[in-house]
Amino acid sequence: MRVLGIAGSPRRGGNTDILLAEVMRGAASQGAETKTIVLSQLNIAPCQHCDGCLETGRCKVKDDMQMIYDELERADRLVVASPVHFMGVTAQTKAMIDRCQALWVKKYRLKLPPLGNRQVERKGLFVSVGGMKIANLFEPALATVRALFKVLDIAYAGELLFPGVDEKGAIAKNPDALRQAFLTGQRLVEETLSE
Ligand SMILES: Cc1cc2nc3c(=O)[nH]c(=O)nc-3n(C[C@H](O)[C@H](O)[C@H](O)COP(=O)(O)O)c2cc1C
Repeated sequence: MRVLGIAGSPRRGGNTDILLAEVMRGAASQGAETKTIVLSQLNIAPCQHCDGCLETGRCKVKDDMQMIYDELERADRLVVASPVHFMGVTAQTKAMIDRCQALWVKKYRLKLPPLGNRQVERKGLFVSVGGMKIANLFEPALATVRALFKVLDIAYAGELLFPGVDEKGAIAKNPDALRQAFLTGQRLVEETLSE
């Protein structure tokens, strides 16, 4: 059982990083192998819609996204963590998601499994925080992440969403949130064991 965490905040050690670390700790406590990728440390260009992937389902741009395609294929569970930036996911997260257009091509044009064949169903989680406390704060980001999971044939296994969290590290003062994150990580792995 391999759990891949994608840290989408550019603020290292910030609120989503802290939550993601707890989710991964929970997953590891159940024996999962975990790996976290920090997008802001990588070089991932935005999709240029060059159509270079149309024939093969592979992106022609050779940057760090190539490593992420491999990691996505190997993962049984995916945890996407991004704070809200201007009502959506961060630019780093969106660049990574847009580059999954090559996998859209693989699935819908080439009629191939986007991440290869897998016995156990893949599942994914979305983790987010936002500084504001307004209705529908997470809706645009949720729509984007749900679209990603749908394209990748990853079942949507839930979300951890915390509004009103702005200051760096503020979430660490909320033991309930940390506990919830840890338990969610555990559950993400346990569900597979019972399948
Ligand atoms: C560029 C930028 C845009 C932001 N836009 C929003 C927003 O639209 N809504 C909101 O609630 N918070 C917004 N925030 C606040 C962050 O969501 C908040 O500070 C969050 O705690 C950051 O999480 P992190 O520590 O994981 O980076 C924005 C922050 C930045 C830097």
